[in-house]
Amino acid sequence: MAAATTRTVILRLLPLLLLLLPPGLREHLSPATTNRRQEEADAAAASSSGSGRTTNAGGELLLHPLVLVPGVSCSELEARLTDAYRPSVPRCGAMKGGGWFGLWANCSDVPAHHYVPCFMEQMSLVYDPAANDFANQPGVETRVLNFGSSTGFQRNPEHTDWCLEVIRHELEKIGYLDGDTLYGAPYDLRHAPPVPGQSSEVFSVYFRQLARLIEDASAKKQGQKVILFGHSFGGMVALDFVLGTPMAWRRRYIKHLILVAPLPAEGTVAAVKNFVSGTDILYVPETPALALTLRPMWRTFESAIVGFPSPAVYGRTPIVVTERRNYSAYDMEDLLADVGGAGAVEPFRRREVPKMRYFQAPMVPTTCINGVGNDTPERLVYWDADFDKEPEIVYGDGDDTINVISMLAFDKKMRQQPGQNQMYKSILLDGAAHGNIITADWSLKQVVQEILEANRS
Ligand SMILES: *[C@@H]1O[C@H](CO)[C@@H](O)[C@H](O)[C@H]1NC(C)=O
Ligand SMILES: *[C@@H]1O[C@H](CO)[C@@H](O)[C@H](O)[C@H]1NC(C)=O
Repeated sequence: MAAATTRTVILRLLPLLLLLLPPGLREHLSPATTNRRQEEADAAAASSSGSGRTTNAGGELLLHPLVLVPGVSCSELEARLTDAYRPSVPRCGAMKGGGWFGLWANCSDVPAHHYVPCFMEQMSLVYDPAANDFANQPGVETRVLNFGSSTGFQRNPEHTDWCLEVIRHELEKIGYLDGDTLYGAPYDLRHAPPVPGQSSEVFSVYFRQLARLIEDASAKKQGQKVILFGHSFGGMVALDFVLGTPMAWRRRYIKHLILVAPLPAEGTVAAVKNFVSGTDILYVPETPALALTLRPMWRTFESAIVGFPSPAVYGRTPIVVTERRNYSAYDMEDLLADVGGAGAVEPFRRREVPKMRYFQAPMVPTTCINGVGNDTPERLVYWDADFDKEPEIVYGDGDDTINVISMLAFDKKMRQQPGQNQMYKSILLDGAAHGNIITADWSLKQVVQEILEANRS
């Protein structure tokens, strides 16, 4: 247990070492934070195979490159309309042949141009049963902007803290630098990552880009391994990315996987609510009944049907309750059809159900940080089966979005996997919520602490 000893020595020397550090880093390593997590840290140090920390001649911590994968609403999307585009109303064709323009990238601009119906039409995906994959509407080409940068995420003016801005500033305080040690990997929010054996044209391209980004980031730092960080939907993306890489590649390039409030394959009841009632994840200002207005578009996205509660975890418990019928995790296909989403049934069955059943451990050091102790939807009551009305919600425990039962099921699988077990650390932060876990001072501090820990181990 040489590592444990090293760790103990470091802890004893900590007050001294702190004096050598820049103030931002000092704050994050201060005994107040260290003590709270000391048990876990010791356990992690005891089980990690790494030797001591990497420092340069000046005793400073050498930061491993870090790639951020943000939540679902955080990527800029541009579109281009070709001749093949057949607008449902003539004015939606106004941008035809006019080159790239902001689609999701300009969503806050859309109402001013009476463009909401056009926006919805051009954002919508179509499911192709022959390919068992999703694609754009004919004649609509799209591209994600700012790949590689941690500063180019979409801002939602009503939730400026949703897209990793706050944590980026904290990371900069401890020495991370965009384009040097810090990178961002936005993705097309409408699609969902495939599991091995499934095709996704969009995610295949993205995964290749992400692998390249990681290789380049590593090369730039003398071959150092890279820390991959994902929040929310981005946590699922990061995990599925790693699962799709050859084992030798992972071992060569991935220092640590940090998942914060990752959307679990075990699913959430919130995903069901978003499909049935629509969601305000998608921001368009000055639009009355926003969630309901955008719902037809949302329902065409693969991201709307991934992450439904899995039967293995949620069993026969009613999730949606109406006077005539209850729907458990086993009945989600019927539910999709009964709420007017029949088009989602086939892709749900063929693409999403297999994802619920699929589990592989990433076999790289992994830390998973979740919030608990918040009211989190557990059952949705649409008593008179009016799915245009907001449901009555029965709450359980979780981070306000992800149910604790799914977090625990994921933890259990990770711990049962020989080899992963020793490289897995799960942290539940009482009172941290799905979004503010990476913005509230106290929980953000813990998350940054774990990033430092990953650097040291
Ligand atoms: C959208 O964004 C682009 C660049 O970010 C800008 O040039 C354009 O004027 C914006 N508005 C529309 C309606 O495209
Ligand atoms: C639906 O579930 C609720 C709560 O478990 C139960 O009280 C009710 O009897 C069920 N209704 C039907 C129609 O099965």
